[in-house]
Amino acid sequence: MPRRSDGAGHESRSLSTLLSARIGQVRPSPSIAAKARVDALRAAGRAIIDFTLGEPDFATPSHIVEGGIAALRDGQTRYTGSAGTPALRQAIARKLQRENGLAYRSDEIVVGPGAKTLIFNAFAATLDEGDEVVVPAPYWVSYPDMVRLNGGVPVIAPSDAAGGFKLTPAALEAALGPRTRWLVLNTPNNPSGAVYSRQELEGLCAVLRLHPHVWVLTDEIYEHFTYGGARHLSPLNVAPDLASRTLVVNGVSKAYAMTGWRIGYAAGPMALMRGLTLLASQTTTCASAMSQAAAVVALDGPQDCVDAGRRLFEERRDHIVRLLDAIPGIDCAAPDGAFYVFPSVAGLLGRTTPDGTVLASDLEVMRWLLDDAGVAVIDGDSYGLPGHLRLSFATGLAQIEAGCAAIREAVARLR
Ligand SMILES: Cc1ncc(COP(=O)(O)O)c(C=O)c1O
Repeated sequence: MPRRSDGAGHESRSLSTLLSARIGQVRPSPSIAAKARVDALRAAGRAIIDFTLGEPDFATPSHIVEGGIAALRDGQTRYTGSAGTPALRQAIARKLQRENGLAYRSDEIVVGPGAKTLIFNAFAATLDEGDEVVVPAPYWVSYPDMVRLNGGVPVIAPSDAAGGFKLTPAALEAALGPRTRWLVLNTPNNPSGAVYSRQELEGLCAVLRLHPHVWVLTDEIYEHFTYGGARHLSPLNVAPDLASRTLVVNGVSKAYAMTGWRIGYAAGPMALMRGLTLLASQTTTCASAMSQAAAVVALDGPQDCVDAGRRLFEERRDHIVRLLDAIPGIDCAAPDGAFYVFPSVAGLLGRTTPDGTVLASDLEVMRWLLDDAGVAVIDGDSYGLPGHLRLSFATGLAQIEAGCAAIREAVARLR
């Protein structure tokens, strides 16, 4: 008897049951949803000041763009190997040595269409049903959903403003169990801007040494954006002995304003690299050839563009922190890294808006700011820490000033 094709099986599904149970657990990305709301309001003619952007607001440096164009002219328009081009993997190996003091061979490096894809694939390659992944809160919104999509269970480890939004060794210890597969560390952190110090990383790594079955996924995509005296360190800088169970994830999106080029990379033990390559070979095939060539130019070329971006963000950080923290009911500490502030709005909760709504949660504060002040922000609840808002300062100083003034005026209208 001929085997029924998968397609025949799906034909009998009604539209309401079209989507799998697995996808039913996934929440839409709040930053992408926020962008859609902003776009819809703008299309309807409203002026919105947008603090939701998760990407540098400046253009990819021209020498990198030229590198991409040259690659196209040179005929680099075909599939590449699923792990990435040898040229890019070698450039990444040089970068990891030069900037991070980490020694990887190019065959211990895999390139993919964005760090996001590589994190997803790392979970897909390693999680079995019910395996746990420790995700410290506040977290980048995608981690828990990526874990769920791959049959895993996100275990949220709390932190608070008093502790600088950092995972403590005690909170890590409490979150670990026999089914823990991964700890996800993100420094500098989206959304809090927290940057882990050497001592803090040493404390966490000491706990990890007691749990040899736990792997570390270290997401270092904001590494270049640190301010004041803070400097980025990878957990492997303080605990090189954990290299055999660590996956370093990074990319060119944020450092070189290349979000739309979609190039990320991961470095780690060979067995895991083989898993990631296999997954790519059956899903995306490879990252864009042209973008990979441009990423070589970004990593091997002059780095002053990265520091120029860092200095610009630092100036904006100082501005937005000063303006927000001066608003009664908003408490905004200066983040050490990334390009977000994560102020507490606990002081606004319980207040009443002019139309009679009581602001009961950060979600309502977010909605009210959009309606009343024309300012788009993202609620802290989406990042696993209610009572806060996330504002991106990857936007111009004039926007920062106008947006903070609009928030201040809206707050003054609360009862
Ligand atoms: C913490 C974090 N990791 C990873 C990414 C994804 O970066 P990519 O553009 O390389 O997919 C983002 C993007 O917002 C991020 O905030």
